[in-house]
Amino acid sequence: MILPVVERAYRFLHDRVFLRMPEARAVRVGQLLLRAVPVAALRGFVVDDPRLAVTLAGVRLPNPVILASMYYDPRILRRAMALGFGAVTTKSITVTPRPGHPEPSLARLSTPEGPGFVNCNGFKNPGLDAFRAGLHALPHRRPLIVSVAGESPEEYQRLVEGLEAQADLVEINISSPNTRLVYELSAAPERVRGLLGLVRRATRKPVIVKLSPDYPEANHRAIVPAILETGIDGVNFGNTRRVADPRLSQGAGGVSGPSLFPGVLAEIRDLRRILGPRLGLVATGGIDAPDRALAALEAGADAVGYFTAFITRGPTLPRRIGEAILETLERRRLGSVADLRAGAPEGPAA
Ligand SMILES: Cc1cc2nc3c(=O)[nH]c(=O)nc-3n(C[C@H](O)[C@H](O)[C@H](O)COP(=O)(O)O)c2cc1C
Repeated sequence: MILPVVERAYRFLHDRVFLRMPEARAVRVGQLLLRAVPVAALRGFVVDDPRLAVTLAGVRLPNPVILASMYYDPRILRRAMALGFGAVTTKSITVTPRPGHPEPSLARLSTPEGPGFVNCNGFKNPGLDAFRAGLHALPHRRPLIVSVAGESPEEYQRLVEGLEAQADLVEINISSPNTRLVYELSAAPERVRGLLGLVRRATRKPVIVKLSPDYPEANHRAIVPAILETGIDGVNFGNTRRVADPRLSQGAGGVSGPSLFPGVLAEIRDLRRILGPRLGLVATGGIDAPDRALAALEAGADAVGYFTAFITRGPTLPRRIGEAILETLERRRLGSVADLRAGAPEGPAA
């Protein structure tokens, strides 16, 4: 009963308040409101059903919906966990604090597929030591995926070692288009192999690598083979796509939102075939509705991640996706989310 009311209230807030503010102010106000919501008030959003559980790179998630990398504030991460995401990813953390690129660093994007953003955030984050200190206050109600971004292989190693205790999974970001330090790695796959070997030896926690949609050739020729050879546990496809945008302080940024989705879906099919059935695979990019989440799971993803839809579609989406999955499992007489994958055995005929 309460969910349709929350949905309508959020639609009003988004369309009548946030959309009328400049982007930077809308982000500040939105985060302020999110921090103010009592955690207990969010419990009604959770859909709890053992059939929704999935295994991602050896880690059990209570459902396959992941909040993608964007937030570092533990108060927000905690509320995302309470909202019913199956796992929550941190902002990409760097060794030293970074103020991010100057504003404007976020602009709205209207596409035929739906609303998105273009951003040049530039890894605004408090740095390894301060972030780690703050994380002690975060109860892990849901698995935490710690995302890291370095300027050298040794920095990635230091970040992975430094955050290992708090991470259920580690995500290696080699794909954000907003700083040269990370993005150029995707164009230099020979450096990625060494980096992945170092990271693999630095932790016993499962490691997934987040790929860029801008480097399909390098991904397939060199990075995915390096992932397989170094014993990395999974792949997240993917990050934002770089475009020129004169509205941003850097004159360019990364596109997020539903225009990414067709490319993500095609790539998930390819990656599942190349990676085999066991490696973890997350589909991220433009997932903003239950049917898109279902399509990505059917194409071979173990889980789906999103950030843009957290803003454009509001807090009830994890629940709506969970309910749509359960309805689909019942209709097709399947027992678990993994059975949705194309080629998985069907349940008994009706
Ligand atoms: C403002 C903003 C900041 C982001 N920061 C990060 C980051 O620190 N690390 C990262 O790997 N991805 C980052 N992303 C990318 C998202 O995690 C996600 O991969 C991308 O937005 C595509 O998914 P979506 O279409 O659901 O938003 C950021 C995206 C946005 C819009």
